Amino acid sequence: MRLPALRRTAPPPIIGGSATAAPEPKPPLPLPLCFLLSHLEDEAVVRLDGTKVGVSEVQGLELDEPKLGAFAGFLNALDFPVQLLVRQHPPDLGRMREALREDEPESLPERTKAAADSLHGLLEGLERREGILDRRFYAVSELEHAEELQSLLVRAGLSVHPLKGRVLRRLLLAAALGGTPAERDEAAGVEVEVNRRDLRLGDHLVRALHLGRWPRSLAPGFLQGLMTAGVPMDLSLHLGAIPAEQAARTLEWQKVRFESAQSLSMSRGRTLSSEAEIALEDVTRLRDEVQRGRERLFHASLSVTLHAPDEATLDDLTQRASAHFAATLGKLDGLAFRQREGLLSTLPLALNAVAAWRTLDTSSIARLYPFSPPDLDTRSGTLAGIDLRACAPVVYDPFDGTHLNANTAVLARSGSGKSFSTKLGVLRGITRGIVAYVIDPEGEYASMARAAGGRVLSPGVAGQGLNPFIIERRDAEELLQRIGSLRRLIEVMVGESLGAERRAALDHVLAAYYGEPREGAGFGAFYRFLQESDEDLAKLLRPFATGSLRHLLSDEGDDLLASEALVTVFDLHLLEPELRPAATMVCTETVWAAAARDPRPRLLVVDEVWSIMQHPEGAAFMVSMAKRARKHRLGLQFITQDVQDLLSEDSSRTITGHSGRALLQNAAFKLLLQQDAAAISTVGDAFDLPPDLQRWLLSCQRGDGLLLARGNRFPIRIEATPEEHALVEFSPGQQR
Ligand SMILES: Nc1ncnc2c1ncn2[C@@H]1O[C@H](COP(=O)(O)OP(=O)(O)OP(=O)(O)O)[C@@H](O)[C@H]1O
Ligand SMILES: [Mg+2]
Repeated sequence: MRLPALRRTAPPPIIGGSATAAPEPKPPLPLPLCFLLSHLEDEAVVRLDGTKVGVSEVQGLELDEPKLGAFAGFLNALDFPVQLLVRQHPPDLGRMREALREDEPESLPERTKAAADSLHGLLEGLERREGILDRRFYAVSELEHAEELQSLLVRAGLSVHPLKGRVLRRLLLAAALGGTPAERDEAAGVEVEVNRRDLRLGDHLVRALHLGRWPRSLAPGFLQGLMTAGVPMDLSLHLGAIPAEQAARTLEWQKVRFESAQSLSMSRGRTLSSEAEIALEDVTRLRDEVQRGRERLFHASLSVTLHAPDEATLDDLTQRASAHFAATLGKLDGLAFRQREGLLSTLPLALNAVAAWRTLDTSSIARLYPFSPPDLDTRSGTLAGIDLRACAPVVYDPFDGTHLNANTAVLARSGSGKSFSTKLGVLRGITRGIVAYVIDPEGEYASMARAAGGRVLSPGVAGQGLNPFIIERRDAEELLQRIGSLRRLIEVMVGESLGAERRAALDHVLAAYYGEPREGAGFGAFYRFLQESDEDLAKLLRPFATGSLRHLLSDEGDDLLASEALVTVFDLHLLEPELRPAATMVCTETVWAAAARDPRPRLLVVDEVWSIMQHPEGAAFMVSMAKRARKHRLGLQFITQDVQDLLSEDSSRTITGHSGRALLQNAAFKLLLQQDAAAISTVGDAFDLPPDLQRWLLSCQRGDGLLLARGNRFPIRIEATPEEHALVEFSPGQQR
């Protein structure tokens, strides 16, 4: 693979030489030479000296004690040089915006179209918003060690993806020229100017810095503070392990030096300074640890390149980065006349061109853990919010197959924005063609659904009944599970626990009924069958057949698939509250039947799920739905404000905590918005939240919360555009 022909204006300084001393301008060198690049192969960057370099992208993880330990283990196993690279730059959401446009259904109603357009505006704004950065992590080594490096990182609990072909090329160009990896017009050329204290690359400025004096002590998460300061930069940590024998010899020699200084002082009648005493202790301890193989010594070097559009901004960023190190008595070196070397050190070349090293032990380097904070950017889907800590857009697609399932649990106190954020998610889903169903006990989704061109059904009203009794698939497993669901539905409809005997009888009737092909038949047919086989049970169900509840279930049923709308709301607010659990199950079961017939990404929202979880059978039904949803590409989103009840382990409560917890275990995404003071300790325990996050959940503003996904915690802000806000806002006086 050839590198692009890029132009440069000033000759590159020879490494270690001076850029200003050139008596007359030399003809410009091709840019790849300036960056010490020979060419690119499919899996490797080849340096001018012929060294092949492999690059892997590393998925960020939240930093905690176990991860620090695992990272220290990784360091102790390293016996070749590596470069750990963090790149953070304004996000390029262009490809996502294109994908959203491609997926946008034609003929969206006017207000929905306006909301979709406004989201594009918000995304464009995010690309330019100060402090919003896309952060990615890489591990770089000579190609011959690449596989070993990957397996060591995997053993430390990190996910690693080796880069190849176009992706590798894009990264290299982005690292050399600034910005996030994106398609570039390579023919356009870029002018490079090397100055004393910065470089000009095309239309922006770069300043390379090097950590000349290391902080006295490194706290865990030291680098995260720098990364979240909102500074666009590339940060590179070069590490070279010192062989254990050599390390032990060096330490022994140092120890001897300290000891002889000590005996010299004592022979002159002076005591050793406390600093020297501590140093002697440290060296002795470290030598012992190194000899036992618990610690190792490394050559370490840390370089940073800052990117800015103009000099004033560059100076400001330099100041912010320097202040971060100064707070711990570290000092960033400005690399005067050595800007090119600085930049080279942060390219994925496994090359520390600055060639200044500091010796550090494993524990100190482990505290530099660079792969945090993580982001959830799976490079597809749509915007969920802004990560408040990483200052990055949170973008993901629950249906992209990379998650355990597409289910989301939303838990928060009343009025914290549960319904708002769900409606926003539904709206953003429908603007990219994801069909949504909403079970809405309060009737607060109807106005949004109507405005978005969806339909609103009111089960229980004549002509709007549903028919969950169709089982079309002759798949034995599906049949068995549907029979189980219908049995639970009937138990909740009956409103009382049936007892073992009755339950067995009901199961028997259902099995006998569906033993024959019953395509298209509905509740009416089943009821007649039941009258013949178990009259007592039939009596209990009579209100649904001929009584006041006869409109909830209909024989024909509304065929959800026949004219599937982008959003369908089951408005249950007209039903008596005690009927809502049964109605919720009827709706869920009907959506399930549709999903089984035609699996594709669909979202099913169950608001106020607590009402159904109160019934043991309802709880079992919901848990089994959540477990199976993935099979038919259904994403369940359940919402509740009764967090304590849902999570309670007290079996004397109406619902045992086990069902609530099982429901949560089957949700790959959990959104915790503002919490009640009374519930926070339960929530904290259930989700293993540190005290600072618990406090934050008590005081955060409406629309802020914690998204738990992929084993990480993302503090996010859910932000809607004015057009979206107008569509999803519901005020109680509004027409439903
Ligand atoms: N992310 C947000 N941005 C702006 N406004 C918001 C946001 N989230 C919530 N709100 C405002 O807060 C109000 C209450 O939110 P919402 O009705 O969603 O709360 P809830 O948690 O569903 O309450 P309940 O428990 O009563 O159902 C909304 O009407 C909206 O005006
Ligand atoms: Mg609500």
